[in-house]
Order: sequence, then structure tokens, then C-alpha cells
Amino acid sequence: MKTLLCLLAPALICLSWSLNARADGIVTIELPAETTTYRQGAGMDLAQNLCITCHSADYAEMQPPMPRKFWEGAVKKMKEKFGAPIPDEAMPKLVDYLTSSYGVETPPAK
Ligand code: HEC
Repeated sequence: MKTLLCLLAPALICLSWSLNARADGIVTIELPAETTTYRQGAGMDLAQNLCITCHSADYAEMQPPMPRKFWEGAVKKMKEKFGAPIPDEAMPKLVDYLTSSYGVETPPAK
């Protein structure tokens, strides 16, 4: 019996500790500091306001230099598929900004 208690005690202590931790209910999460901002350029403010609610500017930064069509599609996808609250009138300005800051106006000839 004694041996059984010796085996059970740590398990019980552990159990009560984890319950206490849950009862306290305070969990803190530290996120790394945001270091990327959208590149300077006309329309940057729109991107800073509308595009960093879900993910960092790294997502734009990581794209290869893509033509306007790509950026048009990307902004549309963010709005329609992922529910980004982008007003219709901001769409062309964002596409202009993304194409000139992260893309190419015309795709390279093949
Ligand atoms: C409502 C949340 C939300 C907002 C706001 C948002 N995005 Fe996204 N974005 C996502 C999600 C989710 C993904 C990841 C999609 C995946 O993993 O396939 C993503 C991925 C991307 C990618 C990677 C390529 C791709 O198509 O998956 C780019 C580039 C991008 N977003 C640009 C933007 C830009 C520019 C804006 C502002 C106009 C923006 N996002 C705003 C949710 C959002």
C-alpha cells in the first residue's frame, strides 16, 4: 500500500498543479516584434492599414517581381476568400502600389 501511495503521490501533485494552473487561467503569449513594414511609395499607407491585420508585410516581400495581374488577383483573394475588409475604392490604388513597389509593370518577355 505504501509503495502504491509513493507512486501515486507525484501523479496527484502533478494533477492538482495543472488544475490550479488552469484555474488561474492567465496565459501569456509573447510574439516576436514586428520588423517588416510595407515599402515606401504612394499607397503605402493603405497597405499599412489594410494589409497587416492578418499577416506581416513579409508575405508581399517574399513574392518574386510579379506583374499587375498577379497583384490584382492577390488583393482580390485577400478580400473575397479571406475576408480582408478592403473597400472597393481602395482596390485599384493597392494594386498600383503593389505592382510598382513589389512587382513589374509588364512581365518579362519569354
Ligand atoms: C483577412 C486576413 C488577411 C488580410 C487583411 C490580408 N491577407 Fe494576405 N493572406 C491571408 C492569408 C490567410 C494568406 C495565406 C494564404 C495561404 O497560405 O495560401 C495570405 C497570403 C498572402 C500572400 C502570399 C501569396 C498568396 O496569395 O497566398 C500575399 C502576397 C498577401 N497575402 C498579400 C496581402 C496584401 C497585399 C494584403 C492587403 C491588400 C493582404 N494580404 C491582406 C490573409 C489576409
